[in-house]
Amino acid sequence: MAREAKRRFKVTFPSDEVSVEVAEGTTLLDACRLAEIAIDAVCGGEGKCGRCKMRPNGSFKATPSSFITEAEASEGIVLGCQCYVHGDLTVEILPRSRIGRHQILTKSVAEIPHPIQPWVYKRFVELPPATINDNIADFERLTRGLGTMGLCAPLETLNELSGALRASGWKVTATISKIEPVNEVTRVEPLDRAGTLLGIAVDIGTTTMVVDLVDLHFGSVIATASDYNRQTSRGEDVISRMMYGEEKGGDELRVLARDTINELISRVLRSATIKLGKRPSAGDVVAASIAGNTIMTHFFLGLDTRRIRLEPYVPVAYHMPCLKGREVDLGINPRARAFIFPSRAGYVGGDVIADVLASGMHRSNDLTLLIDVGTNGEIVLGGKDWLASCSCSAGPAFEGGEVSCGMRAMEGAIDKIRINDDLTSSYHVIGGAPPVGICGSGLIDLVAEMYASGIIDRKARIQESGSKRTRASESGLEYVIETKGRLGKGASADLVVTDADLQNLLRTKAAVFAACSTLLKKTDESLDGMAGVVIAGGFGFHIDIARAISIGMFPDLPQEKYRFIGNGSLGGARLALISAKRRREVEDIFEKMTYFELSVDNDFYNEFSSSLFIPHTDLSRFPSVARNRAGRRGAR
Ligand code: FES
Repeated sequence: MAREAKRRFKVTFPSDEVSVEVAEGTTLLDACRLAEIAIDAVCGGEGKCGRCKMRPNGSFKATPSSFITEAEASEGIVLGCQCYVHGDLTVEILPRSRIGRHQILTKSVAEIPHPIQPWVYKRFVELPPATINDNIADFERLTRGLGTMGLCAPLETLNELSGALRASGWKVTATISKIEPVNEVTRVEPLDRAGTLLGIAVDIGTTTMVVDLVDLHFGSVIATASDYNRQTSRGEDVISRMMYGEEKGGDELRVLARDTINELISRVLRSATIKLGKRPSAGDVVAASIAGNTIMTHFFLGLDTRRIRLEPYVPVAYHMPCLKGREVDLGINPRARAFIFPSRAGYVGGDVIADVLASGMHRSNDLTLLIDVGTNGEIVLGGKDWLASCSCSAGPAFEGGEVSCGMRAMEGAIDKIRINDDLTSSYHVIGGAPPVGICGSGLIDLVAEMYASGIIDRKARIQESGSKRTRASESGLEYVIETKGRLGKGASADLVVTDADLQNLLRTKAAVFAACSTLLKKTDESLDGMAGVVIAGGFGFHIDIARAISIGMFPDLPQEKYRFIGNGSLGGARLALISAKRRREVEDIFEKMTYFELSVDNDFYNEFSSSLFIPHTDLSRFPSVARNRAGRRGAR
């Protein structure tokens, strides 16, 4: 008997002015995906994060969820991933459920080497025409003219060569790409086209992606574009995304990653028109340098990630082949070589190696600590002779996950906050709009301020204060950051931070500090010998260092020892693009970097337990914080 086809219904999103047609039983979250509306679906649609709140109007069936409060339920709010279409619908998406305009860090501080020496270059040559007395093959004539031995060429280059030579009167421009062990002529253009030499540097982040279009003659950035990684709606953190890939197949994630990058490439090429006086073509981009964490690199290449997720956390490979643009479907010259940063471990990836390259710490005689705080915290310690690395699952608390009031650093996020004497708060909101939630840098401020004002104790437990700002809730005490009436449109409740949120934040900061301490212990080093601390990553760029020290997240060192390198992954990718020397250093970094697996390390767990206090169980490890506390007590 033929199976009855599912009925189809129209789902309309009025604020986005878009409608889609979906089969009966489709979730609202999937309808959003179809309509290309980016939703903050941290758990990938499993009903476990409570982020995808929407208000449907029409015919639907919704599964009740503990993430929906009684007040929300009475207003018709549901979880989009737990609500199924059973007729035509209109859907209002709550502001916090959207992935909005994000403060994507595209800045990176990396010293540009002089002279720059890209591993791709162009040479214009004028060749003697073939004669009966000089009838060597066209390709050998070209390499003879270039004066470069040991070159080869892909079949496509050979196919275009003979025509190009004769059509241009034997005057051609050859693009030569030198990445060991293959040195090849990747392109031959008629006449002199040596003036334009373009490459792209790509940072494949779990949350965001950034592409720089780089002038390879000067090492300068012509245009930058950034956006959310389109995979985000399939799970915010790497674990939920790997689980999604295992369930639905990794191909969708591969395509989403490549689509995001290709959209960014189109945007940088469009933006470059003004600077270059003409719109460069995709074919003009003749090199790529790509850095991402191990899992993102695997997704990008379509490799299986399931063995990275489970113990013993084994990637398919650390080193990826230097592929051609066409092999990875990039919107650049199909023969362009794409250098992909190697990973050091399942959870210390090419992005961390790029951080190290951008920081220059691998060339320094001094001891340096590098901290990259994202969903995972990655730490590297060392200098010119050795490097030690580790990763701690810091959790997404500072990226807006696992904290009820948390959100990413985008419009509507509180990024700075102070608590006044009457326990009300004063804050700064990204974009100047009414607040919607609080992002990582704001959360660090919040914990520091709550502790300084006595709202929480050293274990980050909220204390009874007698103020309306601290109150009991179903899940324990909570602090009201802001009341509902002063929040952004669509807010269904006061903006609060709960005891449970604070415990998640405490665990995250403890993991970062414990990872730093464990590496110092493993390598027999101490903070006394530390010349500097490098903070990398988008979240790190906005951190108030003094406050991060005051809650015991970063080591207690003078602030002048700290420096930010911004998006080190992008900065490193750019360095490896414009300098063959720096690209070779990537291998040197890989070789001298030891990896410590902390998930089974007793030292780490001991350090972690001691760090579950503000700032730490042992106050002598935070002398400046102890001095400030003593000073405050004396002033009372
Ligand atoms: Fe719906 Fe997480 S609860 S995406």
